[in-house]
Amino acid sequence: MKLSQRAREIQESPIRKLSATANSAKARGVNVYHLNIGQPDIPTPEAFFEGIRRYAEPVLAYGPSDGLPELRRTMVNYFARFGITLTPDQVIITTGGSEAVAFAVNAVTDPGDEVIIPEPFYTNYNGYSSLSGVRIVPVTTAAESGYHLPDPAQIESLITPKTRAVMICSPNNPTGTVFTEKEIRSLGDLVKKHDLFLIADEVYKEFTYEGTRHFSILELDDLEDRVIVLDSISKRYSACGARIGAVMCRNPEIMGAIMKFAQARLCPPTLEQVGAIAAYGLPKDYFDSIRKEYQDRRDILVETLTSNPDVLLHKPEGAFYVMATLPVDDSDTFARWMLESFDQNHETVMMAPGAGFYSTAGKGKNEVRLAYVLESPKLRRACEILLEGVRQYNNKS
Ligand SMILES: Cc1ncc(COP(=O)(O)O)c(C=O)c1O
Repeated sequence: MKLSQRAREIQESPIRKLSATANSAKARGVNVYHLNIGQPDIPTPEAFFEGIRRYAEPVLAYGPSDGLPELRRTMVNYFARFGITLTPDQVIITTGGSEAVAFAVNAVTDPGDEVIIPEPFYTNYNGYSSLSGVRIVPVTTAAESGYHLPDPAQIESLITPKTRAVMICSPNNPTGTVFTEKEIRSLGDLVKKHDLFLIADEVYKEFTYEGTRHFSILELDDLEDRVIVLDSISKRYSACGARIGAVMCRNPEIMGAIMKFAQARLCPPTLEQVGAIAAYGLPKDYFDSIRKEYQDRRDILVETLTSNPDVLLHKPEGAFYVMATLPVDDSDTFARWMLESFDQNHETVMMAPGAGFYSTAGKGKNEVRLAYVLESPKLRRACEILLEGVRQYNNKS
């Protein structure tokens, strides 16, 4: 008996791999500030829970594989707010955005195929590519250029006969970068020229700061057959535990394939879809105060961390993450040390080591991803503890 190659090779999530170490710190009485995971503390809207409370069916039955029709219609109306025209049959509800990633990648690739993705990228793309046997071909982006895309010719040079898709995440996890309309349009031209798919993870589309506009790939004209968008309510409505996401595409063949994947796992959770219908009914301005809250937190994090001139970071334009380069030799060792061997007045910080957000070996070794999902005073305190940790880590013998 032996484990499969994919079972042996799939990476541990850098976001969660130190959880046991954090639990041991907590057992010692240490308060751990979680900057490692994008678990928002913004309350889930009351409308979500009220929607579920109103559910009056006597049996919690299987629902349709592509999701409740009312949720799909509600999402179509939500996208219309952004000037994006969809029909309900162009939306399939998934069990979280995570399943949407898996469905999209599996719909357009076979084992051994390649998908081009700007790195650093959402670490679980590594997990999904392992499960699908797909090779991620990274386009390395850097803090110095705001993690924006390189010249299209550089991306084009990575295309091989095995390339099936270019996949982006905007607003980006982990960098917070929002790709511009120009960048998205040039990717559109590229995928058209080389007959590829363009997949975009747009789960953070509501969270952009200082008026930055999020340009969706669904806004690209004449690419309808090759554009696939992944979505989720996890962060949008602070409903990570609901496990409701969606995949959207105007290509009936792709949607037909994804529907078969959806049938194989029966259906997404019913009650949470009912809650999602109610949440999507919230007015547009529901997001105003939340956006402001995240922007304030971003500013606190950037201001506090950059008080150490050796900490390098790009001020994010969206989402609620930052990749920070720290003056440490190895962010993996440092993150573990912070939980195992350090505390300041019985408090410490958990962060996600940077290497797991890259597929290029050796990249991200002195970077960490931080999520600004704590209220401002706690966030400021967490950043101060982190800086003190850096100081003591570098002074230890
Ligand atoms: C970019 C991105 N895509 C997808 C997901 C997965 O979302 P879900 O909770 O809906 O599975 C996340 C979660 O952090 C994410 O950051």
